[in-house]
Amino acid sequence: MKNQTRRAAVVGLGIGLGHAAGYLSSPHAELVAVADSWDVRRAKVGGTFSQGSMLNLRPLLDPDILEKKWEDLGIAVYEDVARVAEDPGIDLVSLCTPDDTHEEYACLLLGAGKDLVLEKPVALSLESATRIAEAARRSGCRVAVNFEMRVNPAVQKLRELVGSGMLGDIQAFNLQQHRAPFRRDKWQKWIQSATRSGGLIVEETCHWFDLARYLTGDELATVHAVSTDRVLPDFDFEDIAYVQGRFVSGAILQVGHALTGFDFSIIIQIHGTLGSAWCALKADRHSALDGGQTDYLGIVSWGPADPVAAPGQNRAGGTARGTAIYGEEALEGENIMAHVAHCVESLVTNRPFVVDLEDGIQALKMALAARASTLTASVEEVQ
Ligand SMILES: NC(=O)c1ccc[n+]([C@@H]2O[C@H](COP(=O)([O-])OP(=O)(O)OC[C@H]3O[C@@H](n4cnc5c(N)ncnc54)[C@H](O)[C@@H]3O)[C@@H](O)[C@H]2O)c1
Repeated sequence: MKNQTRRAAVVGLGIGLGHAAGYLSSPHAELVAVADSWDVRRAKVGGTFSQGSMLNLRPLLDPDILEKKWEDLGIAVYEDVARVAEDPGIDLVSLCTPDDTHEEYACLLLGAGKDLVLEKPVALSLESATRIAEAARRSGCRVAVNFEMRVNPAVQKLRELVGSGMLGDIQAFNLQQHRAPFRRDKWQKWIQSATRSGGLIVEETCHWFDLARYLTGDELATVHAVSTDRVLPDFDFEDIAYVQGRFVSGAILQVGHALTGFDFSIIIQIHGTLGSAWCALKADRHSALDGGQTDYLGIVSWGPADPVAAPGQNRAGGTARGTAIYGEEALEGENIMAHVAHCVESLVTNRPFVVDLEDGIQALKMALAARASTLTASVEEVQ
């Protein structure tokens, strides 16, 4: 049944657990191996689903599975990515290791004929990303990039609103993220070093650059960014960044990103000639976003651009107000699981990925230009 299923492996069992959950939930995948260099991460299936954004996946998985060791499920356990590359019984690999390892390991796995679900950012430089693209071309293997926010139902709703034409021509994209510092329990503390993670803008703002492209359908032409680095001494890079830019269409972008918050929330606004849409996402019901007063985890509202001139209508004369509310399905863990399952389905059915390598490279270009701007205090061209 090779053409209907994929034999998958996950390398790196941090966020990689979300990928493992995706394969376990997919009718098109068999999880045949996991790999991690760190013994505690290899020890037990369930124990590792107990932290951070993986916690909400726990109830979705079979409790019997959670109590077992990977080996008890017939899943091979390796200590290094090289063993996965050598295993001819693996077709597809989720690569979930630190950012500075992506180029080397992606090229190794592609050279061994494995399709990839590659964690973001694709790499830390354009040269590195280009070498991954060349390795993919040489091998004929396919690469999806895990910008799982694209499958978040609130983001899908925004995309539907833009695509319907209800907002008119997009004039502005704005995203503000308020979050606590990155977790400090990463392997070798890699995320705290700019040379290993690319810093805040490359490591995480790349998600929001990807959403800007996905939701506006536009490419960023120029970018200017400022940052400050005085709050978190054990992270050797910017802890707050404000980014502004202009798209090819003339629309404007603004992204504010703070690692110095005390919980996790995101607000997105999209303004068009006919209407605007507003979206809020939070990781906990008790959030600074609303003081824990509401129960939703994702919400999208939309309305006319000029409600004073035409109450209840947009300027094109259509009714244009609404709200959509989302629960657990708007959380990161579920989005990763759903996106990975979707990647397998795309491979089996030979359809395009939701996020391909070129998307990953475009978001990286935006992030690199924005970070360069924070260092040179100049306006940078993106393309
Ligand atoms: N898409 C998302 O929303 C999202 C969220 C978090 C992290 N990430 C990305 O996922 C990747 C991993 O991040 P993380 O937070 O899980 O980090 P982590 O440090 O928690 O986990 C990485 C794991 O990789 C393992 N590893 C390192 N070298 C290895 C090797 N040679 N062979 C096998 N295992 C090896 C480490 O032992 C570690 O357990 C990064 O690229 C990060 O940017 C993406």
